[in-house]
Amino acid sequence: MKKILVTGGAGFIGSHVVRLLVNKYPEYHVFNLDKLTYAGNLENLKDIEKKSNYSFVLGDIVDGDFIHELFQTHQFEGVIHLAAESHVDRSITNPMEFIMTNIVGTVNLLNAAKNIWKENYDGKRFYHVSTDEVYGSLGDTGYFYEDTAYDPHSPYSASKASSDHLVRAYHDTFGLPIIISNCSNNYGPNQFPEKLIPLFINNIRHNKPLPVYGEGLNVRDWLYVVDHAVAIDEIYHKGKIGETFNIGGHNEWKNIDLIKVLIKVVDEHLGREAGSSESLITYVTDRAGHDLRYAIDSTKLQEELGWTPSLQFEEGIQKTVAWYLENQQWLDNVTSGNYQKYYSEMYDKR
Ligand code: NAD
Ligand code: DAU
Repeated sequence: MKKILVTGGAGFIGSHVVRLLVNKYPEYHVFNLDKLTYAGNLENLKDIEKKSNYSFVLGDIVDGDFIHELFQTHQFEGVIHLAAESHVDRSITNPMEFIMTNIVGTVNLLNAAKNIWKENYDGKRFYHVSTDEVYGSLGDTGYFYEDTAYDPHSPYSASKASSDHLVRAYHDTFGLPIIISNCSNNYGPNQFPEKLIPLFINNIRHNKPLPVYGEGLNVRDWLYVVDHAVAIDEIYHKGKIGETFNIGGHNEWKNIDLIKVLIKVVDEHLGREAGSSESLITYVTDRAGHDLRYAIDSTKLQEELGWTPSLQFEEGIQKTVAWYLENQQWLDNVTSGNYQKYYSEMYDKR
């Protein structure tokens, strides 16, 4: 059996990647390494946790000795690295966590792969999952391409940019067989409700204010999470070593327009008059260094590997709202405990 290490597999995107790999490739044994931070949740993988080709490993990628031993024990053939601190707002209040996990953690994985594979790179792959935020911010026009110069602005995006550079450096210097992808904003089931869409669904449900940063004019390019997982599978198996692929939905929305669509859909699902929850919209102090617009050109991925998003946004948002409202226990579990503290620290003074 091929042993594949997925890091961050208990998180939002990682859980969709693990599920896809475990179900699609019975000939693989998928090891899910996760620290189970506030964003990691084994509930996300309940449906596959008993499969014989799946194992969960609790651990921290910042612990270099532990990572080395794990590679030595299992002799992984491939790595799909998603573990990260991923929320921009938290990176503004606590940058150090981001430096440690996103940079030091990534280098620990690179070192382990390099030292255990010992230049016998036949059939090996180190796939690093990254973000479009490394490219910075666009004005009203234009797109991010694979060769767009890096220009990160938040501690989160700077830490991801740094990790991307280090992954490329290990390819150029040590020949490590790496691949990188940079994706736009994901939405869908199992996203922790600190990010815009699940946070707003939860707040609408509880008739709580909807904190719109600034004037709500920032633009994001939204992709359904399962389409990202499918792209990762395609790139991991068919992408050329050393290459970068942009992944995006060609689905740009101004925040305020997206929020109004979301409100309408949630209201309908809750049996309220569609749009009535717009009264909850509350404009709050903008995010520091808030990037205006992201937009991905994913032509390379479409032309070279034949990937396209499978879902139109209207369908994706319906599925997403339905999932959160049908899984209120999941939402209630992740918003109990420390969530209230996080929420008041992040929003009370805005
Ligand atoms: P997430 O925050 O939902 O999940 C991150 C996972 O990593 C969690 O399960 C967490 O427990 C784990 N983790 C964190 N620190 C760890 C550590 N030190 N050791 C081991 N595990 C650790 O994140 P996500 O939204 O699923 O993002 C996954 C990856 O995709 C990240 O690398 C992120 O930068 C990238 N990405 C995310 C998006 C998006 O829209 N969410 C878009 C593009 C790229
Ligand atoms: O572009 C890819 C990135 O998308 C990923 O790399 C990140 O991991 C992921 O978190 C996401 O980053 P964003 O900062 O774009 O996502 P977030 O959901 O936090 O915010 C989306 C937009 O909504 C952004 O312009 C800020 C705004 N916003 C967000 C929150 C949480 C609000 O107006 N109010 C809010 O309460």
